[in-house]
Amino acid sequence: MTKLLVTGASGHLGLNLALLAVEHGYKVTGWTHSRGLMNPPFACESVDIGDLDALPAALRALEPEVIIHCAAIANVDVAEKQPELSQRINADAPRVIASVAKQLGAKMIQISTDAVFDGSKGNYKEDDAVNPLNAYAKTKLAGERAVMQTNPDAAIARVVFYGWTLEGNRSLAEFFYNNLVAGKSVNGFTDAYFNPLYVRDLAETLLEIAEANLKGIWHTFGNDTLSKYDFGVALAREFGLDESLIKPVSASQGRDVVRSLNLSTNSDKLARALGHPLPGLTQGLTRLKEDFDAGWRERLAKFKA
Ligand SMILES: NC(=O)c1ccc[n+]([C@@H]2O[C@H](COP(=O)([O-])OP(=O)(O)OC[C@H]3O[C@@H](n4cnc5c(N)ncnc54)[C@H](OP(=O)(O)O)[C@@H]3O)[C@@H](O)[C@H]2O)c1
Repeated sequence: MTKLLVTGASGHLGLNLALLAVEHGYKVTGWTHSRGLMNPPFACESVDIGDLDALPAALRALEPEVIIHCAAIANVDVAEKQPELSQRINADAPRVIASVAKQLGAKMIQISTDAVFDGSKGNYKEDDAVNPLNAYAKTKLAGERAVMQTNPDAAIARVVFYGWTLEGNRSLAEFFYNNLVAGKSVNGFTDAYFNPLYVRDLAETLLEIAEANLKGIWHTFGNDTLSKYDFGVALAREFGLDESLIKPVSASQGRDVVRSLNLSTNSDKLARALGHPLPGLTQGLTRLKEDFDAGWRERLAKFKA
């Protein structure tokens, strides 16, 4: 049984990943911070990764064989307001984890973001020039660089995803689903493009990256590029909800923090390495709905402490 550490196990990606890894036969430990988990089917510890002095001992005590580092200040507004915290969590902690992973001979996957690009070009590949626009993106890029400098055997997975969360109101899918079910109208950005993966498809792909021992930067995005407006409409159709409640607007309206617009990405390099294309939107939304029908949302909510 491979010993896997998932940081950020109370978060959107971390929780879905830890649960999926258990299904795949990994011996999982999940680290949380301010939110506990109630009776998850994996070992769970509360560890502040911002305590950089205590972090190495916490890692060594576990002796993980694989570390998938999902914990982050992932909220763009929080990162903008607290740049020092963001630097410590998104850049300094990954450096420490990368260093200890190297000493332990553990495989590390650092989760990064499409927001390292400024969105002026689109169809971004791994070696395209980066230009992060806000504190979140800048500190995530600093995290990528810290990990690569410290531990070149690590993998960086740049991601963007949607799915169901512990709280039920944290993700883009939940934003559209919750509002449309309540009959509320919402804005959908027609000029913000992305290549989202369903979070459980992403989780499977991350395990594949670990198993294939891939090194360096990997674009780990969905096969289809679409706007956030089109994503909302596609989700509404999948769930039989009223798509006319989604108002097409420009992403430049009503946002305080500057964000990249055309984050269309290219994951061909990863598809070649894994020997199959990354899942597209139809496959992802079908699975999102299947998991919904199978009670996945309720299952996640039960872990809320
Ligand atoms: N959501 C997206 O579409 C998206 C897009 C691009 C990249 N990403 C990246 O994907 C990763 C996961 O994002 P997410 O959306 O799953 O984030 P999330 O739901 O906001 O979860 C963040 C996780 O980080 C943990 N954390 C925060 N501060 C911590 C600390 N000081 N010590 C230990 N743990 C701490 C949180 O723990 P507590 O809640 O228990 O405090 C939580 O489990 C991040 O690296 C993010 O940058 C996300």
